[in-house]
Amino acid sequence: MIYYFSATGNSKHAAQVIAEKTGDTAVSIVDIIKGKTQINEKSEKTGFVFPVYFWGLPEIIKRFSSMPEVKNSLGDYVYCVITCGATTGSADKMLAKSLGRKLDYSFSLRMPDNYVVMYDPSPKEKAQKFLAHADKELETVCADINASAKKRAGSTKGKVKSIFISKLYNAFRSTKNFYANDKCVSCGICAKNCPDSAIEIKNGKPVWIKSKCQHCTACINCCPTEAIQYGNGTESRRRYSYDKTVNK
Ligand SMILES: Cc1cc2nc3c(=O)[nH]c(=O)nc-3n(C[C@H](O)[C@H](O)[C@H](O)COP(=O)(O)O)c2cc1C
Ligand code: SF4
Ligand code: SF4
Repeated sequence: MIYYFSATGNSKHAAQVIAEKTGDTAVSIVDIIKGKTQINEKSEKTGFVFPVYFWGLPEIIKRFSSMPEVKNSLGDYVYCVITCGATTGSADKMLAKSLGRKLDYSFSLRMPDNYVVMYDPSPKEKAQKFLAHADKELETVCADINASAKKRAGSTKGKVKSIFISKLYNAFRSTKNFYANDKCVSCGICAKNCPDSAIEIKNGKPVWIKSKCQHCTACINCCPTEAIQYGNGTESRRRYSYDKTVNK
């Protein structure tokens, strides 16, 4: 079983490739949390695929990995593939701590960065190059998993610095700067696609109803008219998504 969380499609793509090449099944963590799918019985290998947030774990991964039924479902071989724009810090070690066991294998997979709230995503051609490179790296990952390899690979950083940087996540995880401008066509896609039900449509416009959300960027990156903004930095930035309807 491969558990995945993805906002803009990178991690879902990685999970699907791994599932196909290792003969496993990729299951959405959002679907499990929303009760649309159930955790199946133990399988021989258990994988976790998700994006790094601030060199640490997305809030939904912290919640999911500490659930007793998830811990009980772990196979003998447990691995993670964490997607990132640059580095995953020591997020794999944080996952291991939350699961209460060592990971047999972890890989930090560089893919296009989606954090438009802070950075301008790469131009399309550059993003395509990142994706082509990631697909090559995935071939190695799948061969490693099939061989039950035990290693830690990819772009990781030290534990102490990671703990410090990961603490910034909560400080940034606020909805107060989100708004939709005049380009909003009231389609409701942002609310349907939000993994954490943090958006309600009121009078045809999105309202961010929670003081805290995942900050996953699905809403801002996947709005079909690019109406969603965060503060005053995002109007001029590009948007990035591998898949616009990951959690719909
Ligand atoms: C809140 C947030 C924080 C992020 N922090 C990091 C980071 O610390 N290091 C990094 O390399 N990429 C970071 N990223 C980029 C994502 O991890 C990366 O683009 C990931 O592949 C997106 O996966 P997805 O498309 O499956 O959602 C961050 C993205 C978000 C939304
Ligand atoms: S996805 Fe964009 S256009 Fe559609 S309701 Fe949300 S903000 Fe408006
Ligand atoms: S409100 Fe936007 S950033 Fe927050 S969890 Fe929902 S889709 Fe992600």
